[in-house]
Amino acid sequence: MKSSIILHWLLIVIGSKYVRTIDYELYEYFNRTDPATRQLCDFEEQHPIPIGILTTSSGKPVDIRETISLNSDAFSNQYHIDLLTHANAERIPERVVHAKGTAAFGYFEVTNDVSQYIKSDVFNGIGKITPTAVRFSTVNQNLGGNDLARETKGMAVKFYTKEGNLDFVALNFPVFFFKDPVKFPFFFHALKRNPKTNLFDLSMRWDFCTKNPESIHAFLWLYSDYGIPNGYTKMDAFLIHTYEINNKYGDKYFVKFNFRTEQGVENLPSDEAEAIAARDPDYFNRNLYNAIENKMYPAWTLEMDVMSFVDIRNIDYNPFEITRLWKMGTYHTITIGRLVLDRNPDNFFRVSEMSAFNPGNLVPGIPGPMDNLFKSRRSSYRDTQVYRLGVNHNRIEVNTPLYWKVYDRDGKPPVRDNMMDAPNYYPNSFNGPVPYVDPSRPKERYTILEANAVDLDHAADFYNNYLQRDQRERLVNNTVKSLVPVSPDLQRKAIRLLTLTDINLGIQVSEMLHDAMQMSPIPDPRVLIVSRQKNNYYYDSSSQLVK
Ligand code: HEM
Ligand SMILES: *[C@@H]1O[C@H](CO)[C@@H](O)[C@H](O)[C@H]1NC(C)=O
Ligand SMILES: *[C@@H]1O[C@H](CO)[C@@H](O)[C@H](O)[C@H]1NC(C)=O
Repeated sequence: MKSSIILHWLLIVIGSKYVRTIDYELYEYFNRTDPATRQLCDFEEQHPIPIGILTTSSGKPVDIRETISLNSDAFSNQYHIDLLTHANAERIPERVVHAKGTAAFGYFEVTNDVSQYIKSDVFNGIGKITPTAVRFSTVNQNLGGNDLARETKGMAVKFYTKEGNLDFVALNFPVFFFKDPVKFPFFFHALKRNPKTNLFDLSMRWDFCTKNPESIHAFLWLYSDYGIPNGYTKMDAFLIHTYEINNKYGDKYFVKFNFRTEQGVENLPSDEAEAIAARDPDYFNRNLYNAIENKMYPAWTLEMDVMSFVDIRNIDYNPFEITRLWKMGTYHTITIGRLVLDRNPDNFFRVSEMSAFNPGNLVPGIPGPMDNLFKSRRSSYRDTQVYRLGVNHNRIEVNTPLYWKVYDRDGKPPVRDNMMDAPNYYPNSFNGPVPYVDPSRPKERYTILEANAVDLDHAADFYNNYLQRDQRERLVNNTVKSLVPVSPDLQRKAIRLLTLTDINLGIQVSEMLHDAMQMSPIPDPRVLIVSRQKNNYYYDSSSQLVK
């Protein structure tokens, strides 16, 4: 008690040395800089005297002579030891994918009555506000990588609802690269760095694409303008999977949740993106930070595309197929509410790096998707987060739900109150936590069949009908650029797949690639096509062995 008074007094004495008035020069500096650039000056503005007396990690006040180790017994100086050994251990593994990103806090507001479809508390009651944490990310970049690389982007939203955390883990493309989760490790190996050169490698990428032709739809999104949005605030985000939702009568509906940017979708052409990357590879992170500090709070409308259980049995395509979109005219779209981001985290590591989103974190009323890829994701995220953050990652502040009562105990910290003196086994006779009963839980269960056939029509439809003419031209240009460095054999395979998808796309890429490389004419790509039945391109395990 006494010593803390002395420390406080000392602080005021030291601090008085630092007090200064804001002068003209400083105002001018404030006016010509963006909030991200002047963050430290802003801190100083808010803290006109030092924020406290320096201590070791165990709280011992540090004498000024301990801050220099020269000509002293450095290993009797606990400050020196404490400081350096902590620094040695300050890294944790970066995320295996989506390593580079940034986070912001905000809120979700319900703007529409959707109670006839979904009973979840978070989406019921017009005007209801739920706090959220959101993390945006690149996919293949390492921490510190380039925001402007041609890559899918992530947007993960954690709603802190009264019924637990709801994680909506989304991408800026509405389709995914494949539907079989067993391909995931190969997918990210192929898109990240080559094991020998440690460089991004277009051969691996095109080899993955041509060996897994169902991925061409998402790859066309990647090579189109959508491959480089103009910042995280200028993109839509899609949960991709078809989610089952239930209302309070136990009726099932099937939905695709989509975040639609209120800033307008805006993408960057490759050359502009390259120019920005040369100046500022953190352009996306800076943009979001500044937008929020400048009170230009970015917002997204949350919508859902809806089909009923009856609708879903009367359509002529598989609505759970994540490499394709739902057909126009088979569903209707309903607005749920608005997501607004209005606060930057005080500390990047505490929020962005320690956040753990898991698409399996769902709430009553959202049983979730039934496809295998989603089921696999339920476990992958948890597993990687145990490795990255520890078994108690949901006890870390940013991941903590509003309410939790568990039979989990112990493990690597943080354990918070570790459920104190409550019984640690279930069931028990001593009033430990008990489950609730949901009377409206649907009784019938269903399974879905997932075909291995590859249907290239969706990719063709994206190219011909979704993109505008100049967008198609840029897609061809971007594709050609990525094909220049790969082997002639891979080029042929790529052109074959593009031609099977759309004959004009194949011809254009083939011709432009030939021009770009100034090589002898590539034969008409049509000769590369062996067979195509009813617009469907089938492959089996043996065909992978055939050149
Ligand atoms: C088999 C398929 C997939 C697997 C196994 C998988 C696995 C992973 C893993 C291991 C992480 C790192 C998580 C962490 O360290 O906290 C991650 C992050 C992420 N994934 Fe997936 N993923 C898959 C498909 C998808 C799909 C379909 C989407 C979008 C609909 C998606 C969106 C994201 C996003 C946005 C993140 C970043 C989350 C964050 O900001 O922390 N992933 N994924
Ligand atoms: C800074 O900007 C404010 C308004 O934005 C202006 O009134 C003020 O004169 C500027 N100060 C300097 C030093 O440029
Ligand atoms: C595509 O590339 C060609 C050849 O380099 C160029 O003439 C054309 O302007 C490019 N198109 C677009 C839309 O950028």
